[in-house]
Amino acid sequence: RSIKSLTTSSSSHILRRGYASEAVPDRKVAVLGAAGGIGQPLALLMKLNPLVSSLALYDIANTPGVAADISHINTRSEVYGYSGEAELGKALEGADVVIIPAGVPRKPGMTRDDLFNINAGIVKGLCEAIAKHCPQALVNMISNPVNSTVPIAAEIFKKAGTYDPKRLFGVTTLDVVRAKTFYAGKGKVPVAEVNVPVVGGHAGITILPLFSQATPKANLSDAEITALTKRTQDGGTEVVEAKAGKGSATLSMAYAGAVFADACLKGLNGASDVVECSFVQSTVTELPFFASKVRLGKNGVEEVLGLGPLSDYEKEGLEKLKPELQSSIEKGIKFANQ
Ligand code: NAD
Ligand code: LMR
Repeated sequence: RSIKSLTTSSSSHILRRGYASEAVPDRKVAVLGAAGGIGQPLALLMKLNPLVSSLALYDIANTPGVAADISHINTRSEVYGYSGEAELGKALEGADVVIIPAGVPRKPGMTRDDLFNINAGIVKGLCEAIAKHCPQALVNMISNPVNSTVPIAAEIFKKAGTYDPKRLFGVTTLDVVRAKTFYAGKGKVPVAEVNVPVVGGHAGITILPLFSQATPKANLSDAEITALTKRTQDGGTEVVEAKAGKGSATLSMAYAGAVFADACLKGLNGASDVVECSFVQSTVTELPFFASKVRLGKNGVEEVLGLGPLSDYEKEGLEKLKPELQSSIEKGIKFANQ
């Protein structure tokens, strides 16, 4: 079978097995922040992905143990652990996809923007290294505040002369995962069949689920749609509060991050019709970055898809989110250029 037919197999589950590894292109994935709450389960899920041939796990500490542990799993990829800044270059060299869950998480009472002061510097340093060691990689930014860290990354890559908007993604998949779960629960439809686009950004009201476009159709009242929208927007806070000071979503985020990285790999390998929502450079609205459905291909973003028809409630939500999203984007751009 050709590589294309293998990578466009009807089975899209990230845990599937059974590919002849020699027929699938070699792909290196680097996880930066791999010893953290998201990093460890995300590294595990990427180790289970048959599209990955080399898995580089980088953190400022504790990666040798995580890498040794994961490396014993009998799946395709070779696993390498890298610890401390001196090893960052080796971790990144030759990477096709770099996933960044490095940085501090929220505690109850904090907004994602409260993480800016610490995480902006972390992301800046990591992106400078990406520009140097693997400028062609697709970058999957998980570190918060995503609405600012993606613009920071873009500015750092511009300064280095390596910026390609097709290769930079803010990971908003967890918003989609949540919207699907909550919609299926309320609408009593099979969760595995649900599709819901989530657009805008990744913080509070900037997260805009488009339940009017959800499939399969469920008979939900306006009040139920409003409640589902708010629950999706506050999904991160729901977990932060339940964890009561011990961090934010890690396991569901690892799942979401693995789904998005898998889509990037499928796109790189030439699979057709790979579409996920992501926060990317965009002309869908007047904002320079915006999350919407994106078609992934051999060079990363193949097409940024439009919003489609919106309900009046969604149109209102879209106008409301723009000022906050704009100021988070500007904050990131300003930080990177100061
Ligand atoms: P965590 O504290 O458990 O892990 C973060 C890891 O990053 C730690 O292992 C730490 O050593 C590492 N790190 C810190 N500085 C680093 C550097 N310079 N280079 C490499 N690694 C470094 O936190 P977590 O729960 O894994 O969350 C990580 C980030 O992901 C947070 O900013 C959080 O807000 C964000 N997050 C985003 C989403 C999303 O949907 N995009 C969802 C959940 C969490
Ligand atoms: C999430 O949506 O779970 C993450 O952005 C983490 C957070 O701080 O809520």
